[in-house]
Amino acid sequence: MESSTSTELGQFAEDVLRGLSSTPKTLSSKYFYDDEGSRLFREIMELPEYYLTRAELKIFTEQTEAICSAFTDNAGAIDLIELGAGDGTKTAVLIDHLLTTGIDFTYSPIDISQEANDSLSEVFQSRFPGLRIRPRTGDYFKILSSLEHNSDRRKVLMFLGSNIGNFTSGSAVEFFRRLREVMDANDRLFVGFDMQKDPRVIVAAYDDEQGVTAEFNLNLLRRINRELGGDFDLSKFSHYAQYRPAECSARSFLISREKQSVHIKALNRSFEFEQWEAIFMEISQKYTRPMIEDLAAESGFAIGREFYDEENFYIDSLWLPSVTD
Ligand code: AVJ
Repeated sequence: MESSTSTELGQFAEDVLRGLSSTPKTLSSKYFYDDEGSRLFREIMELPEYYLTRAELKIFTEQTEAICSAFTDNAGAIDLIELGAGDGTKTAVLIDHLLTTGIDFTYSPIDISQEANDSLSEVFQSRFPGLRIRPRTGDYFKILSSLEHNSDRRKVLMFLGSNIGNFTSGSAVEFFRRLREVMDANDRLFVGFDMQKDPRVIVAAYDDEQGVTAEFNLNLLRRINRELGGDFDLSKFSHYAQYRPAECSARSFLISREKQSVHIKALNRSFEFEQWEAIFMEISQKYTRPMIEDLAAESGFAIGREFYDEENFYIDSLWLPSVTD
């Protein structure tokens, strides 16, 4: 490893090198989800402060029929395609209902993790014996373009759980434009957005009492130690979350409690931290209705229907391609 150039390093190592060499230092939240990180995220979803999952589940359970008929409206058959399905709890509500309607449909969870797809398929196959499930493992866009225009069945793409929150607004437009390119005029896109609300409620969701979110962030340092031979001392970093109400964005950081040096073997390098220096870890963007409208319009979509919870904490928005082709 000693003589390797950055091009011979794995993507993870390269991103860590780039992030820790930047000012301010940064690490990408997309690396949170190793086995322990995925377990911690499941724990986060159960926290009293983390309202997002419950809000979306409530929308799904209370408006199941309206959501499903918006999906199937004017379509003889649909292919439900979920980008990053997670444990499928919310989707199960829709699938359960769709099966009772007798509509012709398939379900394809798409995930980069084979394990995630395998365990989801197992759960769904035993719970819904009649379900036609076609899991696909790999990059969203590669898989989607292989599906492109290959049937006259309606594709309903779902991107739930406020996963779009980890994108900056520019990259969210880019992401949705790429989805638009692989969609036909009759297809639909269903997206979960976390809404602007009392800043205190949002900060609490990212800085919970039990410290699970702190562990979730610190776990990335542990992952660097294990996979890249780092020597991060986790007790010398503390989790800090903030919310910027004018930009509607939550951010989380790990703060170096003291001046220190951290060595990472796989990078053959040390990184210096000043006392109180921050590593920027994650953005969790919140939305207002005008922001969602702008995002849809800029990405080539029109908003078809919106499904809210009663507190207006969260919105599931159904988009249709705007007619340009
Ligand atoms: C999975 C991106 C939706 O930003 O709310 C939870 C991840 N980070 N607590 C979010 C997360 C800290 C979560 N998303």
